[in-house]
Amino acid sequence: MLSIFRNATKETLESLREELEVRKTAQYILLFSMGSQFDHLIVQQLSKIGVYCLVADPATVTAGHVLSAKPTGIIVSGGPASVHDEPPPFDNAIFDLGLPTLGVCLGFQMIAKHVGAKVTPHEKREFGVHEMMILESDPLFDGIGTSTAVLQTHGDAIEPSDALTTLGSTENAPVAAGRRKHLWGVQFHPEVSDTVDGEKMYENFCIKICGISSGFPAESVAAQKILELKKQIGNSNVLIALSGGSDSSVVAYLLKEALSGTEGKLKGVYIRGIDRPDDEQFVRTCFDSQPWIEVEIVDATDKFLEALAGKTNMKDKRLAMRGIYKDILEENIREFGADFVAQGTLYTDLRESGHGNSTGARVAEIKVHHNTGIEFSVPELRPLETEVKDSARAIGREIGVPEDLLVRHPFPGPGLVVRIEGEITAERLKIARAVDGIYIEELRKADLYKTVWQAGATLTASQHTVSKGDDAGLGSVVALWAVWSVNGFTARFAQLPYEFLDEVSRRITNEVREVGAVVYRISDKPPATIEFG
Ligand code: XMP
Repeated sequence: MLSIFRNATKETLESLREELEVRKTAQYILLFSMGSQFDHLIVQQLSKIGVYCLVADPATVTAGHVLSAKPTGIIVSGGPASVHDEPPPFDNAIFDLGLPTLGVCLGFQMIAKHVGAKVTPHEKREFGVHEMMILESDPLFDGIGTSTAVLQTHGDAIEPSDALTTLGSTENAPVAAGRRKHLWGVQFHPEVSDTVDGEKMYENFCIKICGISSGFPAESVAAQKILELKKQIGNSNVLIALSGGSDSSVVAYLLKEALSGTEGKLKGVYIRGIDRPDDEQFVRTCFDSQPWIEVEIVDATDKFLEALAGKTNMKDKRLAMRGIYKDILEENIREFGADFVAQGTLYTDLRESGHGNSTGARVAEIKVHHNTGIEFSVPELRPLETEVKDSARAIGREIGVPEDLLVRHPFPGPGLVVRIEGEITAERLKIARAVDGIYIEELRKADLYKTVWQAGATLTASQHTVSKGDDAGLGSVVALWAVWSVNGFTARFAQLPYEFLDEVSRRITNEVREVGAVVYRISDKPPATIEFG
């Protein structure tokens, strides 16, 4: 699937078609990223309202490419440049295509200049929250009162003129929001939480202005999946592998609905051994007291360690993990008398393991996902195999999966195995767990957990010279990473604040004796994958 839209080749249009097919829509927004630090928040906001947003490269995408890609609407983001000196390259003919377009800060100044309004340079840039008075009724501000707080960058100012209708102003921006025909613009950032009605504005732009039909149809997709499961399983018994994460939890809830009113029973198995410190607790809290599912916790620590002993190559370790995972599920299938086994496998998992390309072309096997390619003794149910992470979450929300479970970061099925380089021993598992615990705890404390798509810590095979007090020796190097993403197919490294990384690093080296140094990974996917292994 596409990471960034750079031009309309046959291949990129095919990838786009595939992404839209998975999302069951033909409508999407093309976001021209002009370099704003908040661009990923625009993608996140749109994903929250169920609208797919594809990032476009302004330097290469022409009006012709846009016509071929047929987006429903366009957003041109903000950025550090000014329309006066060296504005980023952009094909202004895109503004003349007649597609609904929203310019944010720099994007709005580009629109203003294009339609003949005057943009006055300002020397200094500073951030500030201001009250915007709404002066004209417009669908962009539907459902918002007569004034609202907005976060502005005090950059270049747009002068009032006949070229644009002024929709709103603040004390330092006479044209804080404006419009000309199909072109809208705002001199503030609707994607940050300080702009209190920002989400509503994006919703108005996508749904009311662009006419996107309320995003991903989670309700009907959930109903359809329940119906299909009902037909498939009837009165049967189903065993599900639970991980404490969102995908398997969503599948459990779909099965709850599909089995309700039948004689069929549902059993969940949680496999302990290569998990994070808090996974088991999530399963216990969310499922233990539910009358519709019986949960068993299986401690497979020794089995995993035995199967992993002496293995240092990631593929070998993944395969060893998958073998134990399969054995334990088979054991439980027999004991429970299961007729089906269910897993939370996503479309992404299948694709990265080399399956599932709708065009039939060969797909590279990036890594063997733990939940793909296993031949079980009973038929397998994979109701989410046509979904990506955010659409699976949207389905979960419709059928009552607790929000705490849904918003947990993804965690790889092979667990900490893929976050430990070199041999996996009980000792190294303990270190990886301790480091993960500190990192995630600090992310939550700093209110950063929800702003990143996934974060993790990898215990590398590197050693670092350390001097702790009078002592000297070697300590392991831990690599922290965090990413912004929409579907996990592509990802940007998250720009976490230095002070935060400083605090986490200090805690890790102080509290985990075996760690000598902490580094932060700043590569995107592609080329790097999200997990180290
Ligand atoms: P990568 O590392 O391939 O990861 O960029 C993409 C997403 O998938 C998760 N991941 C897995 N999930 N079984 C899973 O269920 C697996 O074998 C597996 N390997 C990676 C990874 O954590 C990221 O969210």
